[in-house]
Amino acid sequence: MTSVNKNLHDERLLIVDFGSQYTQLIARRVRECGVYCEILPWDAPDDAFLEFSLNGIILSGSPETVTLGTTPRAASCLFDLGVPVLGICYGMQTMATQMGGKVESVAKHEFGHAQIDVDPSSQLLADLGGKDGALPVWMSHGDQVVATPEGFSVSASTSSAPIAAMEDVQRNLYAVQFHPEVTHTPCGAALLKRFCHDICGCHGLWTADNIVEDAIASVQAQVGEDQVILGLSGGVDSSVVAALLARAVGSQLTCVFVDNGLLRKGERQEVESFFSPANSIGNALQLNLITVDAEDEFLTKLDGVEDPEAKRKVIGNTFIDVFEREANKVENAKWLAQGTIYPDVIESAASKYGKAHVIKSHHNVGGLPERMDLKLVEPLRELFKDEVRQIGLHLGLPAELVQRHPFPGPGLGVRILGAVNKPSADVLREADHIFITELRSADLYSKVSQAFAVFLPIKSVGVVGDARRYAPVIALRAVETIDFMTARWAHLPYDFIEHVSNRIINEISGVSRVVYDVSSKPPATIEWE
Ligand code: XMP
Repeated sequence: MTSVNKNLHDERLLIVDFGSQYTQLIARRVRECGVYCEILPWDAPDDAFLEFSLNGIILSGSPETVTLGTTPRAASCLFDLGVPVLGICYGMQTMATQMGGKVESVAKHEFGHAQIDVDPSSQLLADLGGKDGALPVWMSHGDQVVATPEGFSVSASTSSAPIAAMEDVQRNLYAVQFHPEVTHTPCGAALLKRFCHDICGCHGLWTADNIVEDAIASVQAQVGEDQVILGLSGGVDSSVVAALLARAVGSQLTCVFVDNGLLRKGERQEVESFFSPANSIGNALQLNLITVDAEDEFLTKLDGVEDPEAKRKVIGNTFIDVFEREANKVENAKWLAQGTIYPDVIESAASKYGKAHVIKSHHNVGGLPERMDLKLVEPLRELFKDEVRQIGLHLGLPAELVQRHPFPGPGLGVRILGAVNKPSADVLREADHIFITELRSADLYSKVSQAFAVFLPIKSVGVVGDARRYAPVIALRAVETIDFMTARWAHLPYDFIEHVSNRIINEISGVSRVVYDVSSKPPATIEWE
């Protein structure tokens, strides 16, 4: 914490995204240094860069090569701003190319752990740890800078990359070929902290305390005396919005929880009890919570609908109908609160510049504010998921709620393949409950990023006791991921999977067989639909 009396947005870094899978990780690491930052795509208009008054710029990596003339470059206005610039991997290569240096593709790609020898006079890298100036780092590149631009000095080298880092202190330009944002680079956090604090002059204003205070003040200024409604799903984002708004506007907030019949076992009761005035957090928040039992309405509308995107549409539209009916009962409601978080904002910005492809429509209830003529209040718009969790804990929400795996808006609707009905949902609920309970008791729940069961409507033959069983199949899915854009299937212990499989088949008569999903993303997605 700092004694500097400034607004937490007064100091900010810009991350220019060249399409690296690590761009969001860079931004999260900068936030961990206590500095606010935003990501803009490399081809955003100059005005967008210039409007964002800033203390420093980071150029991300990229799967592209600067050796082709057609690939992305940093907008030249960025180098004219006079603020410090740090190029990472491709960011270093494009900086070198644009400033008059030379980059070549090398025959032997450098991938994985490497050791850099640091020039002890480097502003960015000196004294970051390690013996004799040697630091372990993580590399992933096929091109490298072979001649520095005029004015730059080489600040680190490896045996295969003589120019592994460079800097021009006069012009405040710094670049590293390795990736400081990944945990495989142990000095990465210290390097980014040095860039943000010592080189860019930021003070670390971005703290949970300040974020909560700022969010409360902005919501109060935005909403005034009006009534606000919130669709509370019990997931992390909407729960944190509820807690934040309850602190900001108290009884002006009404939360609507829709039981669509596609929830997990005990979920409705859990949400009701988390926010019940009977316990301390519920008592402190004093939420107006309305629960709507809409299972029949959802299942009737879903009857016979098989296509995943069609199901998403039906579920989204039905949610809007139900929610609107309830919300209309709240007099003078002018605002709709939503748990939009920063990765959603980045995704929309990327699609604004025409680069995103829609694989699945994750935003299930778009259109609600227009239809109901409500204005949007989105207090988490600037936050990454881990920051939302931190804020949730800060606001007193229980760790069990704040650390929950994500659950998709259409719920079990996209985990029952094909047509959805109550008997399948009931079987899936039981199987999922066994899997999740076992993960928790084996202390594996928090070691995976998302885990769930999927109902496969194909029948397979089994034998239970002496009897033949011809029943559907349950697939178990567990993944490890940082950003949910890519994911690795979780290597859960065989004994554990065996135990879960036995329990599911023995305890649920509607299941003949259990399979474990060993597909990573890509090419598979995390959900099956
Ligand atoms: P996929 O399946 O695209 O999932 O790899 C990535 C993350 O998004 C969640 N997901 C959804 N969330 N509505 C949501 O609110 C949806 O329609 C939806 N589809 C997938 C998924 O659970 C995972 O966390």
